[in-house]
Amino acid sequence: MLSPEAEAIRDEALAGVAAASDVAALASVDRTFLGKDGAVGQILASIKDAPPEKRKQLGQEANALKQVIGGAIEERREALRAEALVAERASDGFDPTLPGAPLQRGSLHPVTQVTRELQGIFSSMGYAILDGPEVELDDYNFEALNIPADHPAREMYDTFWCKGDANLLLRTHTSPVQIRALETLEPPFRAIAPGRCFRNETVDASHEHTFHQMEGLVVGEGITVGHLIGAMKTFLREVFRRDLEIRLRPGFFPFVEPGFELDVRCPFCAEKTPRGCSVCKRTTWIELCPCGMVHPRVLAFGGVDAEKYTGFAFGLGLSRLVMLRFGIDDIRHLMGADLRFLEQF
Ligand code: PHE
Repeated sequence: MLSPEAEAIRDEALAGVAAASDVAALASVDRTFLGKDGAVGQILASIKDAPPEKRKQLGQEANALKQVIGGAIEERREALRAEALVAERASDGFDPTLPGAPLQRGSLHPVTQVTRELQGIFSSMGYAILDGPEVELDDYNFEALNIPADHPAREMYDTFWCKGDANLLLRTHTSPVQIRALETLEPPFRAIAPGRCFRNETVDASHEHTFHQMEGLVVGEGITVGHLIGAMKTFLREVFRRDLEIRLRPGFFPFVEPGFELDVRCPFCAEKTPRGCSVCKRTTWIELCPCGMVHPRVLAFGGVDAEKYTGFAFGLGLSRLVMLRFGIDDIRHLMGADLRFLEQF
């Protein structure tokens, strides 16, 4: 039941809606009638000054107008949208059979790819996968690994120390996870611990302040160097998909005794050019992995009975392996976030 004034507003509004030929014109009709200072808004504002018996009528009218006009605007908006679509389709250049815009697909970082592959290989050999903190205690990074404060072996590790706490550092290798494993796992056990390590190196094509290692630790009764060699051969066969010759040279690390450097016959040249290639620096051998039998003192530090148990440990240079695997010649690519490099993997 609209008053003649309200009917006039309605008719004017509906005419405006019908005449609006684009979205902007429609928005202007919307403002003129439904906006705060619009015609309907004014009716609402007038209620408080109206005589009480007229207030209800005014309220109902305002609401009715809102509904009718609002509905018409919505309808017109839909119609305009549909018209625009039809026009676009009719114009030249719209071809609904063209393929859509290609989706950008990301890929895993080469280090992540190799880490996951190694985790798969070692878990299939019964190894648990462990994690350890990157900000470590001196006790774990050095002391418990049989490298006391004044030991010259500390010279090998250009350590980033944390300000304000003499016991805190960025771990220089993944070996501190050995101690954490000895403390928490009950022998016999096998475990690997991949992760980032940090050294204050002068950065060049083969040295980076941040790099990746993968620690391995096997502890049990009667574990020998034979088990170490067997484990290394098995994992290399999986990675390179064939049997590669290996050799052990003596190597010194205070936390293993005896300690070794494990070399592998260069998979890129040894079979073809016996004089070597650039990857193996013309030696046909690639230095891959320091390793050895866990020093009894380290077992004891970790709370494991060194009379009863023995074990072996290895520290795989993961960054190195990634470079070998993908033929990457500069370690700085691994940490540099250059998409031109990363998109190749
Ligand atoms: N943590 C040693 C390093 O990074 C490598 C290593 C690991 C040696 C395990 C022996 C056994 O220098």
